[in-house]
Amino acid sequence: MKGIILAGGAGSRLHPLTRVTSKQLLPVYDKPMIFYPMQTLIDGGIEDILIISDPHNIGNFVKLFGSGRDFGVKITYEVQDRPEGLAQAFILGKNFIGDDNVTMILGDNLFVGDDDFLKAAIKNFEKGGRVFAKEVKDPHRFGVVEFDAQQNVLSIEEKPDKPKSNFAVTGLYIYDNSVINKAENLKPSARGELEITDLNNLYLKEGNLDVKIYDHYWLDTGTFDSLLEAGNKIAALKK
Ligand code: G1P
Repeated sequence: MKGIILAGGAGSRLHPLTRVTSKQLLPVYDKPMIFYPMQTLIDGGIEDILIISDPHNIGNFVKLFGSGRDFGVKITYEVQDRPEGLAQAFILGKNFIGDDNVTMILGDNLFVGDDDFLKAAIKNFEKGGRVFAKEVKDPHRFGVVEFDAQQNVLSIEEKPDKPKSNFAVTGLYIYDNSVINKAENLKPSARGELEITDLNNLYLKEGNLDVKIYDHYWLDTGTFDSLLEAGNKIAALKK
């Protein structure tokens, strides 16, 4: 299993905090944000990790992590020239992924409270896609899962005006190697991006998407309030 951390994006919802630095380098209590998703991959047993960021910020991630040796992992770096979508990571990471499966985590997603969940989820992963959903108060900010009465997943909608459930798809995705081919065949959405939600819906149509419920703390850091909440939550847990 290879690992990717996607740490791009303009972070425009967090201006001016992100005007000169990357959102994923902002402090969450005592560490730069990206340390948390990095730890999640390491706890998942992943040892070969690709960090993807934009041309302006990629050098800072090299300064932060170097070869990865201090963290017991091997880190490779790749530049995403323009913010053309989360699913583009699998095209940019094609050579890195090779013939393996891949787990991608977004550099602004914090999964805390259970150090073993990813290891367990990877251990019995064979093929298809596996994503993690979490009940939230503000589903319109996320990819949202639609269930039928039997709790089967019907669809995933990206940032819908009228969410069909309160379950958000978190920024952690486990895929088999067919993700490269699927990503290469995606068409850009109306906002000009290769959408991770379109990728998940492809797996869903094949009958190969496993949606697990994540029942610990998931902290997204996309707004001032959620960033502050993440810092407070980590501080409280540590104390
Ligand atoms: C992205 C995805 C969305 C997902 C979210 C998780 O949105 O497009 O489906 O629910 O990450 O953090 P973004 O936060 O990049 O707008």
